[in-house]
Amino acid sequence: MLAPAAPVGGSSVSRNPFSRAARAIGSCFGRRPPPPPDLSEDLKPSPSEQPPPPPKTVLSSSSSSSASSTSTRSMYGSSRGSAKGGSGRGILNSREFVAQAQPQPGSMRFSMAEIHRATKNFSQTLKIGHGGFGTVYRGTLHDGMVVAVKRAKKGDSNNHLGAEFQSEIKMLARIDHLNLVRFYGYLEHEDERIIVVEYVPNGTLREHLDCVHRSHLDLAARLDIAIDVAHAVTYLHMYTDHPIIHRDIKSSNILLTENLRAKVADFGLARLGATGVAHVSTQVKGTAGYLDPEYLRTCQLTEKSDVYSFGVLLVELMSGRRPIEPKRERKERITPKWAMKKFMDGDAVQALDPNLSESPSTNMALEKILELAFQCLAPTKEGRPSMRKCAEILWSIRKDYRELASSDPFSRPSDRRKHSDNEEKMPIKPGKLRTRIVT
Ligand SMILES: Nc1ncnc2c1ncn2[C@@H]1O[C@H](COP(=O)(O)OP(=O)(O)OP(=O)(O)O)[C@@H](O)[C@H]1O
Ligand SMILES: [Mg+2]
Repeated sequence: MLAPAAPVGGSSVSRNPFSRAARAIGSCFGRRPPPPPDLSEDLKPSPSEQPPPPPKTVLSSSSSSSASSTSTRSMYGSSRGSAKGGSGRGILNSREFVAQAQPQPGSMRFSMAEIHRATKNFSQTLKIGHGGFGTVYRGTLHDGMVVAVKRAKKGDSNNHLGAEFQSEIKMLARIDHLNLVRFYGYLEHEDERIIVVEYVPNGTLREHLDCVHRSHLDLAARLDIAIDVAHAVTYLHMYTDHPIIHRDIKSSNILLTENLRAKVADFGLARLGATGVAHVSTQVKGTAGYLDPEYLRTCQLTEKSDVYSFGVLLVELMSGRRPIEPKRERKERITPKWAMKKFMDGDAVQALDPNLSESPSTNMALEKILELAFQCLAPTKEGRPSMRKCAEILWSIRKDYRELASSDPFSRPSDRRKHSDNEEKMPIKPGKLRTRIVT
C-alpha cells in the first residue's frame, strides 16, 4: 500500500515568497515543489530524547536556509557531534554549515565555462568516482563552494540513459532533506549533460564498512546512519501527492559527511509513485542483492521494494558483509539469507561484524536490528513495515541501546555516551575487536 500523502502546506506555503520562488523553479520541471510531509504525529518523542526530525522542505534563500538549518540541527543535536568525536555528535563543522547554507535546490545556474573552471577541465585528479550515469568530479565554484559534478556524455547515451538523466534532475529539483544529497543545478550543453549536487566528503557507507577510511564505524554510528537513511526514505515515500520510490537503496549510494551523517544519493533510478494506485508497473531496475523478490516476480513497484532493500542494508550494517559474497561457502553467499538463519536459530551474534565487539548492549541492538531486518525482508509487501515504522523502531532501539550502554562496563566510551560530546574517537584496529564477553 502506498504511504498516505502528507497534508498540503496550504496558504502558509503560498504566502511565503521563497515557496513561491521554489514553486516557480519547480514548474520549470513541470511540477511544483512539495510542502514538507508531517510526521510529527507518528514519530513521537520518547521521554528522554528529542523527537526524530520530520522530513523538512527548506524553501528559502541562503539566509533563511541557514535559519532552517539551525532548527534542523537542534532537532538532531542530541545525537550529533564533531567528526573527530566519533559518535560524539552535535556540532556541524564549518564545511557542513556552508553546504547547508546554500540556495534552494535547482536554483543555481551554471555555464559550461564555470563547470570547466570548477573541475579544472574535468581533471583526472578531481575524479571521485564512476557509476551508471557517468563520471563524478569534485569541483570548486568561483565562490569557493565545493560541489560534486556528475558528467554524462550525450555521445555515450542512448534513450535509456537520457530518460534516466531527466528522471534524476526532476527528482533532485524537488527534493530537499538533510539526509538526501542536495541538488544544485544542471546543464545541457552540446553533447554534455552535467548535474551539480552537494559534495559529500567522507566516502560511501560501503567504503566505511570495508574500513577503507582510517576509522571504522562503531555500533552507535551505524544505528545513526540507519536512522538517517530511514528518515530520508520516509521523506521520499511521504512526498506530497507523488510518493517517490528510490529503487536503488544500497550502501554505495549512502554518502557520509565528516560527522558520519548519512546522505542518500542517486535518484537516477527513482520514479514517481503514481497517485492513487497501489503500484507502478515498469521495467525492473536496481542492484543485485538488494532487489525485492516480489518486484522481480511481478515488475510491480511499491514503496515496500525500498523497505526490502533497506532490510538488506540493515543486515549489511550489522554484519559488515556485502549482500552477495560469491567467495564464501555456499550457505553464506547470500548474506541476508545467512544472517536471517542465524537470527532464527537464536545465534544472531555469529552474524555480527568482526569489527564490532560484543557486549550486552551491542548484542541487544544486534538482535533487535536483525528482527527489524527480518520484517523488512518479508517475501511479500504486506508483511513488511512502512519506512516510517522502520524509523520509529530504530529510534526505540537506539534509546534502549544508549540506556544499556551507559551502564555497560564493557562498551566503548563512545557507546556509553548518552549525548554528544567532542571526545576524540578511539583508534580501532580491525581484527582486535572480537573479544568475546561472557554475559
Ligand atoms: N555527491 C557526491 N559527493 C561525493 N562523492 C560522490 C557524490 N556522488 C558520487 N560520489 C562518488 O562517486 C562514485 C560514483 O557515484 P555514482 O553515483 O555515479 O555511481 P555509483 O553509486 O557508484 O553506482 P550506481 O551507478 O550503480 O549508482 C560514488 O561511489 C562516490 O564515491
Ligand atoms: Mg550512486
